[in-house]
Amino acid sequence: MNNIDYLRSVIRTVPDWPEEGVMFRDITPLFQNKKAFRKLIDTFVHRYYDHEIDAVAGVDARGFILGSPIAYELNTGFIPVRKKGKLPFETVQESYELEYGSATVELHTDSFKPGDKVLLIDDLIATGGTMIAAANLIKRLGAEVVEAAAIIDLPDLGGSAKLREQGIDVYSICEFE
Ligand code: PRP
Ligand code: HPA
Repeated sequence: MNNIDYLRSVIRTVPDWPEEGVMFRDITPLFQNKKAFRKLIDTFVHRYYDHEIDAVAGVDARGFILGSPIAYELNTGFIPVRKKGKLPFETVQESYELEYGSATVELHTDSFKPGDKVLLIDDLIATGGTMIAAANLIKRLGAEVVEAAAIIDLPDLGGSAKLREQGIDVYSICEFE
């Protein structure tokens, strides 16, 4: 089995969570299993090693777990894209639509230097609302999104296509229906 097939096989599908009809793709086994966790982080690090990344930005909350060791290995700092109301200093904010209601993400205004090449990381792309909002924040601060990267893309929900339409390159390790 190749690395990608192996990593995909470790993801657990929980039917009918958080509500009936949803097939929830649970990535916690990838973090729990030491062999899988190392392969997971190495896959991202190898992809971006020669891209002269200046900063890794990870999205609250699972993007923190994933982004931190990648930043460490790429020898960059780590920038948390946080849910509203958690960052103490001056922030920029972007809101996006959820199935019911809306959500807001924030970045500290001094997160990047103008022109910084930023790798944006989260665990999963569904409707793309979270990644698009995070990418907009990075661009508003004058930095460049090299790629929006995730473990899982759910292409049927259209998020990765929407990101690409907005000129943002997307990478995912695997896809699920
Ligand atoms: C999940 C997931 C992504 C986002 C993807 O996070 O970790 O961040 O949803 O969905 P989208 O593409 O439709 O925006 P969630 O908001 O559940 O937060 P959590 O990481 O704190 O559980
Ligand atoms: N898994 C994890 N997070 C998610 C999912 C999922 O299947 N769908 C939307 N956010």
